[in-house]
Amino acid sequence: MGALAANAAAGLPPIDVSAAQGRMLQLFALMVGARRILEVGTLGGYSTLWLTQALPADGRLVTLELEPHHAAVARRNLDAAGVGGRVDIRVGPAVATLATMIAAREGDFDLIFIDADKPSNVAYLQAALALARPGATIIVDNVVREGAILDPDHSDPRVTGTRALFDAVKAEPRLLATAIQTVGAKHWDGFLLARVLPA
Ligand code: SAH
Ligand code: DHB
Ligand code: MG
Repeated sequence: MGALAANAAAGLPPIDVSAAQGRMLQLFALMVGARRILEVGTLGGYSTLWLTQALPADGRLVTLELEPHHAAVARRNLDAAGVGGRVDIRVGPAVATLATMIAAREGDFDLIFIDADKPSNVAYLQAALALARPGATIIVDNVVREGAILDPDHSDPRVTGTRALFDAVKAEPRLLATAIQTVGAKHWDGFLLARVLPA
């Protein structure tokens, strides 16, 4: 059974990246030669699977997930695909996991993909900056939301959290960033693409 079918059978919400976005993540990771990848928001590991396809044999991916059930499904999907040995799934609220990683100096990630609870996007960006190597790539999912992101009075915390992310990126001199809107299997949305200032 493929990962998406396994996710559906296990009752996970169908909010994985689309196949086209998955290929895009794989391409970005290949283009930057990523050897260490950090993901925030695992779900069933579908985006994780795409990113692992870009890793060299000794590459590693750390992915953070709040829900133990999601992490268990992801573990099965990654093991079934034969890439489980390169993926470390850490269960718990990602803000706390990231703080632990920063304290342990687990830095030097080449690429960081942020795709979890949107109200925490600013906290995730700050942690990503602390864990990124100079010149690293940061990608944030779901930053357009059918254009809702343009509305300064929107009440959805997923929208206000992402608007706050744009403000934080604008104010951050260590980042060179843009946003790209996409349309396709997952409707109208987009992603933020940023590069951490090189050394
Ligand atoms: N990247 C996945 C989709 C992630 S969906 C893919 O494309 O395949 C968002 C995930 O973030 C969900 O599994 C949800 O449980 C998780 N999540 C929500 N809040 C979180 C938090 N505070 N810490 C870590 N993960 C969280
Ligand atoms: C939602 C989250 C996602 O990561 C996504 O790709 C689509 C929707 C959501 O929380 O609604
Ligand atoms: Mg997403």
